[in-house]
Parts: sequence; structure tokens; C-alpha cells
Amino acid sequence: MHGIINMKNIVIIGLLLFNNVHAAGDPIAGKTKAIHCISCHTMDGNSKIQIYPKLAGQHEAYLIKTMKNYRDKVRDVPTMYTIAKKYFNNDTDIADLAAHFASQKSDTCIQQPQASQVGKMKIDSCAVCHQSDGNSVLPFFPKLAGQHKEYLIKSMQAYKNGDRQEAQMSQMALLFGDDTDIENIATYFAAQKSDTCK
Ligand code: HEC
Ligand code: HEC
Repeated sequence: MHGIINMKNIVIIGLLLFNNVHAAGDPIAGKTKAIHCISCHTMDGNSKIQIYPKLAGQHEAYLIKTMKNYRDKVRDVPTMYTIAKKYFNNDTDIADLAAHFASQKSDTCIQQPQASQVGKMKIDSCAVCHQSDGNSVLPFFPKLAGQHKEYLIKSMQAYKNGDRQEAQMSQMALLFGDDTDIENIATYFAAQKSDTCK
């Protein structure tokens, strides 16, 4: 039961942080700024290429945190660092871009039951933060439902090998299992219908 109590504390801390740092961006201004993102993420954030994560309907607070992490090299990825240096100039730009993408709807509107079954047994420990269908509710826990499978695999591998470090996920990575398990979990979440679907 100890584990469950810890999880609850984490959730409460997440909520407190959210209340303190959330500054609402302007989605209209963000849409203009998003012109620099189109080539990889598309205008509405439903990127077509597996290695470019979908941003549509993602939690605003998570997007803000993540953009700052790229800018500050907490999340050290050259592609996004180059973008961050050019376009994440100040908190207003970041908040506006996040507001634009968060307000878009995911195009993952159909659940794929077949693919869903594969990784289902493995995701019990993820549900407390991401929900069992990947449509996480709390703002600092990214939605995984309908995200590109290849991007999910890359992210999980990065947590596992330490390229991407974040206290909660670096711990969770100990439970991922081997490459096949990781692929199965990614397949499962990618196959879920997004709750922001059109
Ligand atoms: C040249 C292609 C490219 C362009 C242009 C680009 N991105 Fe990205 N973006 C990526 C890649 C690749 C990743 C995944 C990097 C990783 O593995 O961390 C990413 C990841 C992200 C993430 C993290 C998503 C998540 O689920 O954690 C955010 C937020 C983001 N980009 C925002 C933007 C914004 C805002 C712009 C425009 C100002 C932009 N990107 C332009 C390639 C691009
Ligand atoms: C205690 C809460 C918690 C649990 C449990 C948890 N996660 Fe996460 N997860 C997070 C947080 C917080 C982030 C964002 C971390 C960051 O900024 O890199 C995240 C990010 C992710 C990402 C990256 C998403 C993106 O858009 O880049 C993946 C993939 C992921 N988690 C998979 C899992 C899987 C699979 C499990 C179960 C084995 C799991 N998580 C369990 C809190 C959690």
C-alpha cells in the first residue's frame, strides 16, 4: 500500500505546481507563431511522420514544461534545441504555442482493438498517471493515447538508457522490460482513441 500512497502524493504535488505556474497563453497568437512548426508537426499538431510527436490536444502545462526543457537542454535533443533557440524566446511565445497546440483535436479517432490487446497486460503501473487508455487527466502527465508508436518507443528507450531524464519516468523505466515489451506497450497506447478526437 506504500506505493499507492506515494502515487497520491505525486498527483497532489502535480496539482499544486500546476496552480502556481500556469499562465494562460493566447491560442490565436500561437497559431501565427506555429508557422515554424508546420514542416514537422503540421499546423494542427497532428504530425504525419512517426518520429515527430503529435502535439494536438496535448496538455498545455506539459507542452510548456517540455518546451522550456528543450530550451534549457534539460531534454537534450538537437532538433528541438535549434527550434527552441529561434522561437522559444520568452515565456509568452512558449505559452502561446502551447495554447495553440493544446486547443487542437487529435486525429486519432478510432481505437484499434487488435493492436490494443498486445501491450495491455503491461500497463497497469502506468495507469495511475496516464490512465489505462492513455488519456491522462492531470496537466503534467502527457497524454499517450493515439501518439505515434515510433515516438513512444524512442521516448521509452530514452528514459531507459538515461538520454531523457525525469524523476518519475526514470523510475518507471525500470518496469518497462525488454525491447519487445517496450514495443508492445507503445503499440497499446498508440492504438488508443484520443479523448480530444474530432
Ligand atoms: C525539424 C522538425 C521539427 C520542427 C520544425 C519542430 N519540431 Fe518539435 N519535435 C521534433 C522532434 C524530432 C521531436 C521529438 C524530440 C525528442 O525525441 O525529444 C519534437 C518534439 C516536440 C515537443 C515534445 C512533444 C512531447 O510529447 O513531449 C514539443 C512540445 C515540440 N516539439 C514543439 C514544437 C514547436 C512549438 C515547434 C515550432 C516552433 C516545433 N516543435 C518545431 C521536430 C520538430
Ligand atoms: C507517477 C506518474 C507516472 C507513471 C506511473 C508513469 N508515468 Fe509516464 N510520464 C509521467 C510524466 C510526469 C511524464 C513527463 C516526463 C518528462 O517531462 O519527460 C511522463 C512521460 C511519459 C512518456 C513520454 C510522453 C511524451 O509525449 O514524450 C511516455 C512514453 C511514458 N511516460 C510512458 C509511461 C509508461 C509506459 C508507464 C508505465 C510503465 C508510465 N509512463 C508511468 C508520469 C508517469
